[in-house]
Amino acid sequence: MEIIIEQERASEFEAVEELIRQAFASEEYSDQTEHQLVKRLRNSKAYVTELSLTAKCSDAKLLGHILLTKAWILEGEKSCETLALAPVSVSPEHQRKGIGSALINASFERAKQLGFSSVIVLGHPAYYPKFGFEPASRWNIRAPFDVPEEAFMVIELVPGALANVSGVVQYAGEFSTLKKRKRRIGLFLFLIYETAFATSGAAAGLPK
Ligand SMILES: CC(C)(COP(=O)(O)OP(=O)(O)OC[C@H]1O[C@@H](n2cnc3c(N)ncnc32)[C@H](O)[C@@H]1OP(=O)(O)O)[C@@H](O)C(=O)NCCC(=O)NCCS
Repeated sequence: MEIIIEQERASEFEAVEELIRQAFASEEYSDQTEHQLVKRLRNSKAYVTELSLTAKCSDAKLLGHILLTKAWILEGEKSCETLALAPVSVSPEHQRKGIGSALINASFERAKQLGFSSVIVLGHPAYYPKFGFEPASRWNIRAPFDVPEEAFMVIELVPGALANVSGVVQYAGEFSTLKKRKRRIGLFLFLIYETAFATSGAAAGLPK
């Protein structure tokens, strides 16, 4: 099946939200609000229009979506811009056909072209390394919430880009609408993590 990956169009916003809703609908650990998060992020200063991508087949049927938004690695006075990968969604009937992988790889290519040099993700340590992710702890880059060390990962899109970078990652505030922002962001990303690749006992140490 030919897969076409392109920038999301404004005319597709509602269809993409519905696709995201369906992708997460049967996921036990999802709170089923991921489509609302994407809607919020589109109106955020962290939003990069070129990094909201759709996957379609040749007859234009929507198959998947990925969003990379700006995030910041903060250490004292220093701030380094990075990207956060979340969420990635493939319609239930087309999962496990390589569409998620194609979206991730395409998003990296576009991010590089736009001048971004790294991407962070909270995800399964057995899945994301195949795209080049490594534990963020290698650079002493930390999550703003408690998370299993191996699940918080980063990829340098440009080799050496993080050579002098360390600190705590700040996500777009739109990841949360609640006051307890850090905790809520952690919970959301944890849900993503658990939703995609649930493993028993992986919740140890995560925000409640
Ligand atoms: C997770 C998701 C985006 C993966 O996309 P996909 O198109 O189904 O995945 P791919 O076909 O590209 O698979 C890539 C690899 O991941 C593995 N994989 C995919 N889904 C998996 C799952 N739920 N559990 C474990 N492994 C999985 C595949 O086996 C494949 O491995 P391989 O390359 O060694 O064969 C998709 O299944 C999805 O939308 N799930 C619901 C929403 C979600 O959980 N999103 C992720 C969190 S943001």
